[in-house]
Amino acid sequence: MFGKNLLFLVLVVTTASIGTAMAKSTYIIHMDKTKMASNLFRQGDSIQTYQAVIDSINEMSLQEDDKDQQEETILAELLYAYESAISGFSARLSTKQLQSLKKVDGFLSATPDQMLQLHTTNSKQFLGLQNGKGLLSASNSASDDVIIGIIDTGIWPEHVSFQDTGMSAVPSRWKGVCDKGIRFSKSNCNKKLIGARAFFKGYEADQGKINEAKEFRSARDEDGHGKALTKQVPVAYLESAGSPASKFCLEGTLNETLVKGKIVVCHRGSGSAFVKSENVKQAKGVGMILINSKSQGDELSADTVQFPTARLGMTLGKFVRQYASTAKKPTASIIFKGTVFGRTAPVIARFSSRGPCSIEPDVIKPDVTAPGVNILAAWPPTLSPVGRISDKRSAMFKIISGTSMSCPHVSGLAALLKSVHRDWSPAAIKSALMTTAYTLNNKKSPIGDVDSSNSAGPFAYGSGHVDPERAADPGLIYDITAVDYLKYICSLNYTSAEIALFTWGNFTCLPNAAIRGGELNYPSFAVNFRGGVQNGSLEYKRTVTNVGSPTSSYALQMEVPNGVSVIVKPKILSFNKLGQKLSYKVTFVGKSKRSSDSSFGSLTWVSGKFKVRSPIAVTWQ
Ligand SMILES: *[C@@H]1O[C@H](CO)[C@@H](O)[C@H](O)[C@H]1NC(C)=O
Ligand SMILES: *[C@@H]1O[C@H](CO)[C@@H](O)[C@H](O)[C@H]1NC(C)=O
Ligand SMILES: *[C@@H]1O[C@H](CO)[C@@H](O)[C@H](O)[C@H]1NC(C)=O
Ligand SMILES: *[C@@H]1O[C@H](CO)[C@@H](O)[C@H](O)[C@H]1NC(C)=O
Repeated sequence: MFGKNLLFLVLVVTTASIGTAMAKSTYIIHMDKTKMASNLFRQGDSIQTYQAVIDSINEMSLQEDDKDQQEETILAELLYAYESAISGFSARLSTKQLQSLKKVDGFLSATPDQMLQLHTTNSKQFLGLQNGKGLLSASNSASDDVIIGIIDTGIWPEHVSFQDTGMSAVPSRWKGVCDKGIRFSKSNCNKKLIGARAFFKGYEADQGKINEAKEFRSARDEDGHGKALTKQVPVAYLESAGSPASKFCLEGTLNETLVKGKIVVCHRGSGSAFVKSENVKQAKGVGMILINSKSQGDELSADTVQFPTARLGMTLGKFVRQYASTAKKPTASIIFKGTVFGRTAPVIARFSSRGPCSIEPDVIKPDVTAPGVNILAAWPPTLSPVGRISDKRSAMFKIISGTSMSCPHVSGLAALLKSVHRDWSPAAIKSALMTTAYTLNNKKSPIGDVDSSNSAGPFAYGSGHVDPERAADPGLIYDITAVDYLKYICSLNYTSAEIALFTWGNFTCLPNAAIRGGELNYPSFAVNFRGGVQNGSLEYKRTVTNVGSPTSSYALQMEVPNGVSVIVKPKILSFNKLGQKLSYKVTFVGKSKRSSDSSFGSLTWVSGKFKVRSPIAVTWQ
């Protein structure tokens, strides 16, 4: 997996703005090295090769300027050579120098480095983070040297204009091997998967792909991407679009004579939104209203389509269907209303994974929830936004939904927490995010589940929705060491060869040292009465570390799940210094009568502003 994907280590964006017409701009140049002239090409040295290209261009402009008797020539400047994901370089060039460069053998494309405006800035506010305050405070410069390793396929070199001129020294905490300046050798940083200012571990994109990217780029913008359909046009649906078979707008079901120039109402299902829009476009339709079926409810997520499309949930869709099939001359238009604020949030998405975890029912999964619906995300421009050859468009960003979109939010928060708590272990950071997560939505009601067949609770959102500012100051943490995790892996019956993959071969599972999921010092409780046992009892031990106030006393607050009684010992935790660890025991006793297969509650340690909450999920299986 590592080999083929981009491993992206740190994102450094530098911007420069130049005002005068004579000034140079920064370009990212893709080159085909195999086509370069031999007098420029230096085997095995990209910097020298591209410096030779730049020198030849400078010579040309000097000669021309002599002729024109112009003022002092501004020389082109090589900034960086790309060797991993693409072949090429970035340089500062005048328009004239760019024209000369385009005549150099092997030139593929030049992309100006643009200043881009943020399309959305709402995730940060939604997470409760504010520029210049709390975790993002200007004084919190410590976060500058926290590096997130993201393994993803969406990042492309153009998402990361890299240049290290003017950057400060390598942080002293950095333990990696680095190359300074633009002579950034991929061998060092790639092998060790590290790099100070670093870059990405790339797959070698072949020239074919880069050529494709160029074509895609020219095809972009000609399309109806992002356009509205402001005038009223006739609507076609079922018979008025062809036949009852045209309900899903599948291939061959739409009659061009009937659909031409119209907005077509299509049902979701039996194919992607893109394919439906392609079919409508082929039949000369101009827009689409895509309606959820009953099983899809009212959940909507953005999708890439061919032309103006409105998506409707089941409830509103019912009215549109009725109108489209009964009105004499139904018409519609599609107009963007912009971002709507104030809707109920968060809501657990339909696609979100839900517990209990079948592999490890003794730990509640998921752990937390974070934004993951309609997230503006990096997208590789060589791939069409819908991943189909027939779609010739190219985009650097795409709106995507999924757990893959939630994960980077939480990774970023983990990095912020690490920057203010250098001594926290991964488990401590996870504990802080979990025990401070919230379970009420913006309307002060319990967070709901869009899929009504599942009620939202610990098996939908784990401990709740992440709250980074509170996580920075959680009061207590539940820590777990790496060795604890290794002992836990021992309990999962992996072979010693499999365990060696995690442990470099220097850890041996001892028969009596293995610990089970329920014995991990986890900040939540999954209580399983196996075999439907009704009157059994289960005991858990937990240890908390004081990271709040040196002298503090925590009182117990219980929300007891149905079907059990709970005994906690002790009921008060009194600390007299930071870093102090105290343990407690919780016993869950099953009652003889119960009404369901699962029930939920929580255990919270409270001291002043600190509320250290652990969800409880009881199941009888
Ligand atoms: C398409 O609709 C027109 C107009 O109603 C009709 O004359 C024609 O037969 C239809 N074509 C097909 C292939 O059904
Ligand atoms: C591991 O093996 C033991 C003995 O066969 C069995 O009792 C236990 O359920 C297994 N554990 C898992 C997690 O499969
Ligand atoms: C195993 O070796 C690695 C690498 O030398 C080391 O970082 C780790 O601490 C060792 N683990 C144990 C359990 O000794
Ligand atoms: C649970 O109930 C069974 C059957 O009524 C009984 O034999 C057993 O002793 C009870 N266990 C406990 C812990 O009360």
